[in-house]
This record gives sequence, C-alpha cells and structure tokens, in this order.
Amino acid sequence: MTTTVAVLSGKGGVGKTTVCASLGLGLALQGHKTAVIDFDIGLRNLDLATGSHRRILYDFINVLEGEAALGDALIRNRHCDTLYLLAASQTRDKSALTEEGVGRVIQQLGDAGFEYILCDAPPGMEHAAKLACHFADQAIVCVTPDTASVRATDRILGLLQSHRIDNQPDTLHEYLLINRVNQFHLDSGAALTTAAILETLAIDLLIEVPECNRVAAAWSEGKPVLADTESAAAVALRNAVAILSGQPIKPVVGEVKPAGLLGRLRRR
Ligand SMILES: Nc1ncnc2c1ncn2[C@@H]1O[C@H](COP(=O)(O)OP(=O)(O)OP(=O)(O)O)[C@@H](O)[C@H]1O
Ligand SMILES: [Mg+2]
Repeated sequence: MTTTVAVLSGKGGVGKTTVCASLGLGLALQGHKTAVIDFDIGLRNLDLATGSHRRILYDFINVLEGEAALGDALIRNRHCDTLYLLAASQTRDKSALTEEGVGRVIQQLGDAGFEYILCDAPPGMEHAAKLACHFADQAIVCVTPDTASVRATDRILGLLQSHRIDNQPDTLHEYLLINRVNQFHLDSGAALTTAAILETLAIDLLIEVPECNRVAAAWSEGKPVLADTESAAAVALRNAVAILSGQPIKPVVGEVKPAGLLGRLRRR
C-alpha cells in the first residue's frame, strides 16, 4: 500500500522543500521505502535539501519522456538507504508533466514497493501543483504565521476544493503545517497565533514547526534538519512523521499539537 502526500503552499518560500525533505527522511528512517519527487520544474531544490545535487544523472522529465528508466533516475540518499529522490529538471518545460505520465510514475513507484511518495510542489495551484494533488491521498499545506501567507493559503485551499470536486473523489485529506513559529514575534503581536490561523483556514493542524537557525545550516550540509538530534524544528518534524505514520508523538508543550484535536472542519 502506497501513501502519496502533496506538500503545497499558497505563497512561495514558506518551507515546502524543507518540510518535504525532512518528512521523507523521517519516514525512511522508520524503515518505510520512501520517494521524494520534486515537482518544481525549472526551480529544483529538493536535491540540495537532501544532499543529492551532485548525483543527478536523469530527472523526472527524462522519465516522463521515456529518455530514462525510473530506476536509473531515482537517487538513493547517502544518509538513509530507504530514501530516494526523483529530481526536477532544471532546463525542460513543465508542460512535459502530464496527468498520464505522473500517474504512470506513481503507479510504478507503488509497484516497486514504495510505501510513501512525497511530492514537493511549486507554490500556488498551477499545473504542477494540481498534478501533485491529483494523485495524493494527503495534502500538507505549509503556511507561515503572517497575513500574506494565510491569505494565499485560503485561496489555494479554495482552489484545491474546486479542483477536487471537478477531478477526483473526495478522498484527499488536507493538513496544515505552520512553519517558522517564533515565540518572540507572537509575544510582540507581530505574528498571527495558531488559533487565529485555524479560525481563518478551517483545516486540521498537523504541526507547528518553530523558527530555527539549524534549518539553514542543514540545507548547507545537504542533510534534512530532521536528522538533528536536538533542534526544535527537528523535534516538531519528527512528530509530524509520527502523526503521518500513526506512531505516538513526543509532545513539546506550546509547540506541538496533534492533528485531530480540533476535529475535522470541512471548508464550506
Ligand atoms: N522552520 C524554519 N526556521 C528557519 N528557517 C526556515 C524554516 N523553514 C524554512 N526555512 C528557510 O526558509 C527558506 C525557504 O524554505 P524552502 O525552500 O523550504 O521553502 P519553499 O516553500 O520550498 O520555497 P519555494 O516556494 O521557493 O519552493 C529557506 O532558506 C529555509 O532555510
Ligand atoms: Mg521549494
């Protein structure tokens, strides 16, 4: 059984790739065969976040166009041998992403025993993000605690809802991940509270991930921040992995709340 997860956002730069790399590593470290796919054609980054950028021979578009076999394009992670990356093309046109092609790759990954497929989408709800959602069982929508990001998130949640109504059965479960939560900004009133964000967006909360200076360091080391033992972001992301895979979580008071406590609030 394969679970496909689309990692989305309304606004750019809110942490999708950071989250996708870490959740992928976390699931893989639990022993699940996991693929992370970069849907951000032309602006790839997941290769950097996972430390695989020097080992790309073939990419997602090469596979979709029949220029490479999926097995030759998948890059095994150097820190965890159950984690694989399918990199985005840096030079090709995203129109090569077709529903038929993406569906075929996801089917092939399932046939090859992958238990989790995480799709790192570009921001917004254009072609590639729609395709990432089209085959997903779950969507993790990333937001930062500011008005611009929440407004953009509200917009894409509405688009997601109408895309779903038009194109697929209502089986996609959406979760919100609030990234870069900063207590200093909350105390000074410069950031929106989680309660205010949830009231606006009416979506289940997966996790709050704190602002953490280890994230940038992890990017430069090519090792997802989840691999850190102590950093606050790593603890939150490991808890997100536990929630996604149905394991018990390690609560961090004031930072982490499991999904479901707020009930399933459907968008109207
Ligand atoms: N919790 C965090 N604490 C501190 N910095 C963070 C955190 N999460 C992400 N960042 C930083 O934010 C920046 C953007 O992150 P990332 O590339 O993951 O966002 P993105 O949503 O994938 O962007 P894009 O929309 O361009 O694909 C990076 O420099 C990253 O280091
Ligand atoms: Mg990204």
